[in-house]
Amino acid sequence: MFIQLGRELNETPPWIPVKALQVAVLGCGSRGRTYARIAASMPDRYQITAAADLVATRCAQVAALAAPGAVRSFTDASSFFQAGKLADVLIISTQDTDHFDHAVTALHLGYDILLEKPAAESIERCEELDALARQLGRRIVLCFVLRYTPFYAKVKSIIDEGLLGKIITIRASEGVEPFHQAHSFVRGHWSNTTASTPMIVAKCSHDADLLCWLSGSAPQTVQSLGSLEWFRAENAPQGAPARCTDGCPSRRECSYDAHRYLDDKRSWLRMVMDGAEDADDARILDFLKTSDWGRCVYRCDNDAVDHQVLSARMKNGVTATLTMTAFDSGRTIEIHGTRASLRGGSPYQQAGTPELWLREHHSGKVQTIPIPTPGKDGYSGHGGGDFGLIDSLDSLFSGPAALPPGLDGLHGHRLAFLAENARREVLATV
Ligand SMILES: NC(=O)c1ccc[n+]([C@@H]2O[C@H](COP(=O)([O-])OP(=O)(O)OC[C@H]3O[C@@H](n4cnc5c(N)ncnc54)[C@H](O)[C@@H]3O)[C@@H](O)[C@H]2O)c1
Repeated sequence: MFIQLGRELNETPPWIPVKALQVAVLGCGSRGRTYARIAASMPDRYQITAAADLVATRCAQVAALAAPGAVRSFTDASSFFQAGKLADVLIISTQDTDHFDHAVTALHLGYDILLEKPAAESIERCEELDALARQLGRRIVLCFVLRYTPFYAKVKSIIDEGLLGKIITIRASEGVEPFHQAHSFVRGHWSNTTASTPMIVAKCSHDADLLCWLSGSAPQTVQSLGSLEWFRAENAPQGAPARCTDGCPSRRECSYDAHRYLDDKRSWLRMVMDGAEDADDARILDFLKTSDWGRCVYRCDNDAVDHQVLSARMKNGVTATLTMTAFDSGRTIEIHGTRASLRGGSPYQQAGTPELWLREHHSGKVQTIPIPTPGKDGYSGHGGGDFGLIDSLDSLFSGPAALPPGLDGLHGHRLAFLAENARREVLATV
């Protein structure tokens, strides 16, 4: 039951929930803790009731966000599920290959789900989740946080207002940034695609989702090229050992030297090392000597691509391209319609707040469009998207404009998986 309020655009929430939405967190790693922290900052709207993780300290960090005793803690997914339905919405933020099983069990228990992307490790399984959610009348929202940034929300509203006319072409790029690529897709959780998901799904499902969401359509034909070019053994500096901590002769000039985790890249460790926030240099050095993040980036077991291009024709005739590369930083978007073109993105920003530029074809006039100020977390956390997603959560699940049952974001996943299939087919023929 909700009370509808008079409201201006971008004010939140659009209604006052009479009862806070109960939220449980399965997988209290980096993402789970981020969402829990944001939800806990809005106690009138969200109540965290349960947390589950294999690592007890991670659960404890989520439990500490609420009043003592308010959060039930579990040491794994099965004991959590055995306890029955403990919240309205379950945040599933375990690793990629666990999502499907965890989501199926949660749907059968009656949960609506906020599911980390990717929904599953194949498009067939994503479709199965969608069908099951529809059959059971449940909603699955994927954590496509970019949709909830002030930047992309503005892009979407400009399209929806018709300011660009009919959309004809979309051109997008994603620069992962070299150290980020090394941290996550060479040394990290998503480096080995058999144990996780392919790069275009693991990382670029955000971008694939944007292409579908912004074009308002689904993919019809998809082509893709890409490979792993740089983070390979033949590119290792001469004499580089297996670990940076084993006395690499190129340590001073190597951008990927793991000793940077002791210095300018220290904040990255919070995502992968328990207690990194309070760890001294000696403990971090020990971690680098034994964990995946101390390995030479040219001597890992990685197969995630470091560059890939995708081109697609959507069912409504829009053509769209995406260029992903490890060797740029930030995203750009260009949308070309029959009335005007719109462009923007972080690489174009010199400093300060993001902007968009709209050029009208008839008059040639270019206007600069400011982006609304983001919520409490500012532009941190995916350009304000982490906050924006949680800030929208109650309305997505239970407000007057709640989503229909099913898996929201399926088209984008289909585009990403089709692109990976296309890339592999081309690779197989050369
Ligand atoms: N939306 C985004 O922008 C975004 C960004 C980064 C990662 N991700 C996705 O979020 C997910 C989580 O990523 P992360 O960086 O938080 O990883 P993480 O490894 O830090 O967190 C996963 C957590 O799940 C726990 N876990 C694993 N199996 C479990 C089980 N059976 N029962 C209970 N807990 C279990 C692990 O102990 C770990 O704490 C991944 O699927 C990833 O692809 C999404």
